[in-house]
Amino acid sequence: MSGLPQLPFAQTAVLNPPPAMLALQAEGPIVRVLTQTGDEAWLVTRYEEVRELFADPRLGRSHPNPDQAARVSNSVLMGTAVADDNEDQNHAMMRAMLMPAFSPRRMRAMRPHIQQIIDTIIDDMLADGGPDDLHERLSMPLPVLVICALLGVPYEDRDDFRAWSNALGDTVDGARSADGWNSLTTYMQGLIQRKRSEPGDDLISDLIAEYGDRVGDEELAMLSSGLLFAGHETTMVRIDIGTVLFLINPDQRAAFLQDDKLASAAVEEILRRSVSGGGGLLRYAREDMDIAGTKVHAGEAVLLAAGAANHDERAFTDAVQFEIARPTNQHLSFGHGARYCIGANLARVELQIVFETLLRRMPTLRLTVPVEDLQLRVNQLGGGLVSVPVTW
Ligand code: HEM
Repeated sequence: MSGLPQLPFAQTAVLNPPPAMLALQAEGPIVRVLTQTGDEAWLVTRYEEVRELFADPRLGRSHPNPDQAARVSNSVLMGTAVADDNEDQNHAMMRAMLMPAFSPRRMRAMRPHIQQIIDTIIDDMLADGGPDDLHERLSMPLPVLVICALLGVPYEDRDDFRAWSNALGDTVDGARSADGWNSLTTYMQGLIQRKRSEPGDDLISDLIAEYGDRVGDEELAMLSSGLLFAGHETTMVRIDIGTVLFLINPDQRAAFLQDDKLASAAVEEILRRSVSGGGGLLRYAREDMDIAGTKVHAGEAVLLAAGAANHDERAFTDAVQFEIARPTNQHLSFGHGARYCIGANLARVELQIVFETLLRRMPTLRLTVPVEDLQLRVNQLGGGLVSVPVTW
């Protein structure tokens, strides 16, 4: 036994960072830990260092010997090193392909469609009456419907790709995760072939029109699968957690309802306070480097713990308090620097409309169980809650 702290740390209060994480943060900015797979890695927990390292070109996602690189989990998506000698160039190309589809203007144009989806879901919930599970009724279907519309993926296939996404995000069972990824990318390849002959008004058809002669179906399928995964689990988790934060903080809920101008600040606070997933985002040192006085060697894994950084008292006063009117809120929930989340504008629009609509149209919405009884999704890349039992 190495005696090093072992990830993932237990999250004793559903909505707060694991106490062990905050204890390490109090000790220093960087510490050696064991990942979920038992590999050694550096865990960076303080805001200033995490933010700086997100933008540090000496850290990358690839590794010269991926098979020997430390892993953070068994998920094939974010848990392990990628083999890519041309990482920066390929990454820049990926962003250049995707960014135009996520411009603030395009995202604003999606507002009426998103509003309509949410209104329909809430109409149905009101008609059916409570109690109900908000996770199943709203938090899960909404981002799936939105990402399906954006990508041009048939919503009828949602049960399949939900199951594959779930498998893909398994941080323990690597074979299940790999099967999930294979099923998802195979499905996407079929869809891309169909869209080559019958294009639609959607992002995948746009990608084929723009790059289809230079980029093969396999690569387009990987890109689209990544988007499908990134675009729904993450937002689903924030709808669940944001709702619970409002329901257990009646003063913040009242403040939100009284002042329309607080909507976007409230979403930033929900993003900051949403603790989800295990350790941190995985990087590898491309060269020997010094991090806050600690020598990190080329090839070693460095985990950037954005959730812990978002709860660093050095950066946020009363960090565990949910305060929607924080004067500044430079949280790291979308990362920072070269890999800053491409879907951030979309997620912000979705979250803003959800809370504006949900809290206004369901003024008596409340949990039917004590907050301590909410169950965490464990061993899942995106973390979050299993269900949100509510009535109104
Ligand atoms: C609240 C919801 C979301 C959260 C919290 C979130 C979080 C993140 C984070 C932390 C990163 C950086 C990863 C890293 O540095 O390694 C990231 C990257 C990314 N996100 Fe999101 N995301 C959300 C929603 C979305 C949506 C809706 C989409 C697309 C539909 C999306 C697509 C992406 C993509 C493509 C990247 C990769 C960017 C790159 O490597 O350059 N995300 N996201």
